[in-house]
Amino acid sequence: MIPGPTECLEEVLSCMSKPPPAHYMEDFVAIYNEVIAMLKQLFGTSGDVFLITGSGSAGLEASIISLIEPGDKVVTDEYYIKFIQAVGARAIVVERKRGEAITAELIDKVLQQENEVKAVAIAHNDTAQGITNPIDEISKVVKKHGALLIIDAVSSLGAIPVRFDEWGIDVCSSGSQKALSIPPGLAPVAVSKHAWDVIINRKCPIPSRYLSLLSYREAHEKYGDWHPTPFTTSTALVVALRTSLQSLMREGLERVYERHAKIARAVREAVKAASLSLLVKDERYASNTVTAVKWPDGYDYVKFWHSLYNKFGIMIGNPPAQWAAWPIFKDSFRIGHMGRTANPDYVLTTLCAIEKALREINYPIKERIMFETAEKILGIKT
Ligand SMILES: Cc1ncc(COP(=O)(O)O)c(C=O)c1O
Repeated sequence: MIPGPTECLEEVLSCMSKPPPAHYMEDFVAIYNEVIAMLKQLFGTSGDVFLITGSGSAGLEASIISLIEPGDKVVTDEYYIKFIQAVGARAIVVERKRGEAITAELIDKVLQQENEVKAVAIAHNDTAQGITNPIDEISKVVKKHGALLIIDAVSSLGAIPVRFDEWGIDVCSSGSQKALSIPPGLAPVAVSKHAWDVIINRKCPIPSRYLSLLSYREAHEKYGDWHPTPFTTSTALVVALRTSLQSLMREGLERVYERHAKIARAVREAVKAASLSLLVKDERYASNTVTAVKWPDGYDYVKFWHSLYNKFGIMIGNPPAQWAAWPIFKDSFRIGHMGRTANPDYVLTTLCAIEKALREINYPIKERIMFETAEKILGIKT
């Protein structure tokens, strides 16, 4: 129950056990095109969508390296900062307290203070803090200031609505191991017409071949009917993605989004019923794919986390070593509920185990309170 990689459907695992197809010719092109058509529905775009072979960061790096040039100014968050700096651009980080969303007001303030900002690059869903930033509102402010909008939908695509065309996003990327529920290794990327204009009119060439979005466009235009990607893609993962996306389509995207919203609400209410606090300060921005919970002072986190992992076989986010390695995770734990794990069986089992692990460290908690609270919201009778 970590916030990615998530568990895969049985049908995904079974299709991956078959021999992977070649990365070219009719059979593969048909699979690839079907995947791209379904991804367009998830992104909410009629424009270009590509599949980069690499983890979610490959999509982030492709977005930045293709659009941003040395000396450019980019307003950003913790997810893009290093990619921006790597191309010799200036990253202006949106200052906010832990647990606070990036709001349209915050972005507006920064864009008023800074002139000639080329782009705003931020996460739609901040996985580390369990926060969904209001991109619909942010996009209006970004457009008002004439900047590009680059969005990381690594932990939202396929679980929380993304409206690429409607919101006027320029580049949006995701990762296969989160709500798309297949193993890590594919990064879907959507690109707007305006983004292409900016790329074509760059002052200096894109300093990358593998992650240049132009490489993907060129392959699609020149060889799309027989070799749709510029390099050998992970065909096993493309087949897995088709199976997983077909399952989402069968369920219906609106129902998929509702399922995630309901599961997330059940988890949040269960957390509060245990007198624990959510990390997100304003629940309107609480994520539907991951819930971050503040750890109560004075209780043994190491014992709690390892008891869940070793005794109950459940891995939740933020193993104790992570607290020391990355301050953003300190004094909190995270429950992932995306893709396959956004499901009552997974969530109720996890909440039950969390209650037991809390009792083991003498945290005062009423018997079955988390389980029963969530069960009521999920409308399940046991
Ligand atoms: C919002 C977000 N962006 C980017 C990344 C980086 O993705 P990856 O580790 O797949 O490269 C993550 C990973 O967890 C993430 O949650």
